[in-house]
Amino acid sequence: MSNIDVEKIRKDFPILSKEINGNKLVYLDNAATSQKPSTVINGIKYFYENINANPIRSIHSLAEEATKNYNEARKKVADFINAEPEEIVFVRNTTEAINLVSFSFPFKKGDRVSTTYMEHHSNLLPWLQLKEKGVNVDIVSVSDDYELDMDYYKKLPKNTRLVALTHASNVTGTINDIKEITRLAHEQGSLVLIDAAQSVPHIPFDIKNIGADFVAFSGHKMLAPFGIGVLYIKKDIAENLKPFLTGGEMIKDVSLSKVIYENTPNLFEAGTQNIEGAYGLGLAVDYLNKVGMENIEKYENELTTYLYEKAKELKNVEVYSGKSRRFSGIFSFNVIGLHSHDTAYLLDKKGIAVRSGFHCAQPLIEDRLKLDGAARASLYFYNTKEEIDIFIEELNNIAVKYGRR
Ligand SMILES: Cc1ncc(COP(=O)(O)O)c(C=O)c1O
Repeated sequence: MSNIDVEKIRKDFPILSKEINGNKLVYLDNAATSQKPSTVINGIKYFYENINANPIRSIHSLAEEATKNYNEARKKVADFINAEPEEIVFVRNTTEAINLVSFSFPFKKGDRVSTTYMEHHSNLLPWLQLKEKGVNVDIVSVSDDYELDMDYYKKLPKNTRLVALTHASNVTGTINDIKEITRLAHEQGSLVLIDAAQSVPHIPFDIKNIGADFVAFSGHKMLAPFGIGVLYIKKDIAENLKPFLTGGEMIKDVSLSKVIYENTPNLFEAGTQNIEGAYGLGLAVDYLNKVGMENIEKYENELTTYLYEKAKELKNVEVYSGKSRRFSGIFSFNVIGLHSHDTAYLLDKKGIAVRSGFHCAQPLIEDRLKLDGAARASLYFYNTKEEIDIFIEELNNIAVKYGRR
């Protein structure tokens, strides 16, 4: 049994006691965004009432306090994934982090990158765009059990400069063996980028152990405000990247004939940043540390197992999750004969929030799984078995009434 007092935790999240359509909210859309605890919500107010100034630039005391807090947030995030503070670049979200790498990396014509069939669009489109520069893009296939083709990584095509892949699929819940894939890619001279949007919020993440070169994740999926995300860039690699944006506070010296750039992370943080967001992300990390990432992983595994066991009782419901799936709180499904949007609409009438449609993974859902969409329930550590019971009961009602046998 996990070491989580979920009822106590739920009291920290004001929105969880909200009513939706006359029912208690059952929030099962955590893969889209997480809810926020009071420490983060109140912390933002505290920031504007006590810390607000533009950090790094000004030398007055308040600005120094803002700088101190901004640096502390960076240190907290670094510690959270076992990185060094200078390896942490603050960005808006996972999408921006991956675009930054695809723009800044010195690709040249004839180079190869790989991504996979199970990616969110944000780890697909930045690479597909590189075709315009003459870069070849490989798409690693996905088996019927929703696993990546490991043989591809054992013998990468010549000139592969970067291997990009997701840690955890936002559709099937598959957790990829990123440590082994990183080892294989490094052996063959390629760098590795991990989209960790669906993993860092849910499981302990140790970048030194994994060894990847770039890691992208979003604050809003891990209790922090919108508009703050992280790009980890392994030390020494940043030297080979050109800045994504240019402007204020990313330079050492500027004249009209010569510009000397700052070192990372400042090099990639041009202009005034989302300081309040970084502060909020630091508080979110504090909260996650207090609960404990091992506890979160264990509890979510229990919840997910419970959900999948319960789902076995359902008739007229198809589930998209492979046999060797390792848990990341994702449950994608369809009521046979009903569009996923209709399923989500009917669940919403009972206060149950799930996502539906393509989940920004259209090639996977449409081309590979041959579906016109899927509904998805996604869990976080403040969800309960009682909420899963409510969800399964309502899903069963819908499936019995509208599902095709
Ligand atoms: C696996 C994965 N990657 C990337 C993203 C994009 O995250 P953001 O919209 O915060 O950039 C998501 C969002 O759902 C995701 O699930």
